Amino acid sequence: MLIKKIDEYLNENTYPFHMPGHKRSELLRNDLAYRRDFTEIEGLDNLNDPKEIFVEMEKAIAKNYQVKDAIISTNGSTNGILAAIRSLSKNNNNLLIQRSSHKAVYNAALINKCKVEYIDIITDEVSAVAGIDYNILENKLKSKSHGAVVVTSPSYEGYILDLEKIYGICQKYETKLFVDLAHGSHLYLNDLYKNCFDLAVTSFHKNLSALTPSAALLVNDESLIGSLRENMAIFQSSSPSYLILQSIDEMIENFDKFYGMMDNLNKNLDELYDLDLKNLKLINHKDKDRSKILISCKNTNISGVELQEILRKNKIEIEMAYPSYALLIASIFDRKEAFVYLKEVLMKIDKALLKADNSYKFTYPKPIKKYELFEAYEKEKSKVKLNRALNHISGEFVYAYPPGIPIITPGEILDKNILASLNFMKSKGLTINIEDDISCLIDKIE
Ligand SMILES: Cc1ncc(COP(=O)(O)O)c(C=O)c1O
Repeated sequence: MLIKKIDEYLNENTYPFHMPGHKRSELLRNDLAYRRDFTEIEGLDNLNDPKEIFVEMEKAIAKNYQVKDAIISTNGSTNGILAAIRSLSKNNNNLLIQRSSHKAVYNAALINKCKVEYIDIITDEVSAVAGIDYNILENKLKSKSHGAVVVTSPSYEGYILDLEKIYGICQKYETKLFVDLAHGSHLYLNDLYKNCFDLAVTSFHKNLSALTPSAALLVNDESLIGSLRENMAIFQSSSPSYLILQSIDEMIENFDKFYGMMDNLNKNLDELYDLDLKNLKLINHKDKDRSKILISCKNTNISGVELQEILRKNKIEIEMAYPSYALLIASIFDRKEAFVYLKEVLMKIDKALLKADNSYKFTYPKPIKKYELFEAYEKEKSKVKLNRALNHISGEFVYAYPPGIPIITPGEILDKNILASLNFMKSKGLTINIEDDISCLIDKIE
């Protein structure tokens, strides 16, 4: 589709007296893709108002994910989330979101002045986010009408929610379900993808082949399409990247070929998960995507962060580390040799470890909300020393990164539990986005 059009255009040798300014010049590095960087010229359609090639590409994406329509984003799932929540909260700004939602969900709630309630999360043996409390979801929907429910599935660590169940509950209470499927664009290859939502967003760059930050909204509820397209164009650049778009086109061409590559990945993962480790443990679960390789250090004498450093010394860079686990991300593009090497290194590390109790049990606290995000944003703030912040109202998000789940959000009260959680995380060496001071609202709880 797009790639073919651009090939044809390049063959025609038309001179570009138009943007982009690099003019595909040979003075520039040839290992950067200037030659194929285009803009909305005649014949190359316009992503923010698609009529030709992009309609075809979006149809192909919709077909692959068995949804009614798709809207491409060259600004990541972030763009899709901002647009989706703007559309979904238009007539009812009560939002019910998973507490472990990505920053973009919180930002969307803030800029759209949503009144936010939370679905509590459930963590696994290493304190990774593994699920949600379905009863809380149902009780909150029963007690009040909401514009939308927003859940994240899979989680960063690969846990998959029961979307059939969640969608059933949402339909019972006539609430739209928006699924943040940013980490699950590849799940269709493994039968782990469930088309149970009104709307979802997925990042192709995270697990498939398209360039960073390629993504798309997947739409089942056709009544939303007009408003979604309008809102996508508000947040998306008016000059979407044609390099990213060509990489999405190539991915679409390869959607079917990826099945064979998934078979190979599954074989490599089978062998990896069969590894006879004595101290480290690869966490496996029926509701978990195994390509998110979650290694528990819980019963060893090292932390996840130390495991990350040892792997780095062995020339393996991983996705993230936490006190009791390390997370590696595999994809259908990983080579067999990479798995052979990973297994060898893990066995070597495992042999050198000792058994110990290194468990890190962390339960996310449930702060009390005094103000909505947008109300807190508008209030005056000042910096307060963390050790004097008891009963102040937070003026900022505080989170450990990764995975970036907020411990407290603007407008919530810094009570004893929250301060203790922050101190605990700091004592475990987690990177928290604040140091000794925290931004607080001027008014304080007595
Ligand atoms: C759960 C989740 N949702 C959304 C996003 C945003 O995705 P993107 O980077 O494609 O904008 C991320 C990014 O890491 C994420 O982890």
